[in-house]
Amino acid sequence: MKTETYFCQMKREVKSTHDGSKTLYVPELDEHYHSIHGARQESEHVFIQWGLKQSSSVSSLSILEVGFGTGLNALLTVLSQPNDQHIQYVGIEPFPVDEDLLAEYSVMFSPEEQVLFNQLHQAAWNKSVLIRSHFQLEKVNVKLENYSAIEQFDLIYFDAFGPRAQAELWVLPVFEKMYRLTRKGGRLVTYCAKGQVKRDLKSAGFTVTSVPGPPGKREMTIATKF
Ligand SMILES: C[S@@+](CC[C@H](N)C(=O)[O-])C[C@H]1O[C@@H](n2cnc3c(N)ncnc32)[C@H](O)[C@@H]1O
Repeated sequence: MKTETYFCQMKREVKSTHDGSKTLYVPELDEHYHSIHGARQESEHVFIQWGLKQSSSVSSLSILEVGFGTGLNALLTVLSQPNDQHIQYVGIEPFPVDEDLLAEYSVMFSPEEQVLFNQLHQAAWNKSVLIRSHFQLEKVNVKLENYSAIEQFDLIYFDAFGPRAQAELWVLPVFEKMYRLTRKGGRLVTYCAKGQVKRDLKSAGFTVTSVPGPPGKREMTIATKF
């Protein structure tokens, strides 16, 4: 198991992916933040298409992201949010990305997107900050294992590093916690389609569905709390 110090000190590099967008790569884990087949495409498919867009008729939505990282999922959420929908977004991240790396990464965005990207990253940690009139962001500098909340969420973007690199986040006790944090009728979405992960999500109480994955991945997973 990796210690916190080990993780903090890990080198991260900006890499290009097949759709022209960028991602970060962690050489020590041999792990990318997003798919090399297309980082933006993956995020749009998994979290926006199968997450946010399934709740487009809901007037007030609360979202929890596990692993805020580059902020790409948060940025695409603001860009895809219906005009009349209020979003309360909590992004948990124990190892924030350095400013220099964010600057190198953000060249992939249009000038308008860069303004929003900077707003998301300049927002104070551990505080709820209004980013746009209908989008409230709280970045929480904590590990998932130590995160606790009394509120529940309509939607969870489960975007931790994969089970190979960070097995401790893909286990039943973590999914039981995710189940407690999900509001009735809410859902957790993840790019991961591993059999054991789906079985553990089911044991935690979720109803699990597999849907087609983004380019380069046959399937992804949706876990709903009925
Ligand atoms: C696959 S990356 C996803 C990043 C992010 N969603 C994005 O759009 O860039 C996984 C993220 O989980 C974070 N992470 C690592 N350990 C964690 C933990 N114990 N709890 C929560 N997040 C963690 C990493 O620092 C990294 O930012």
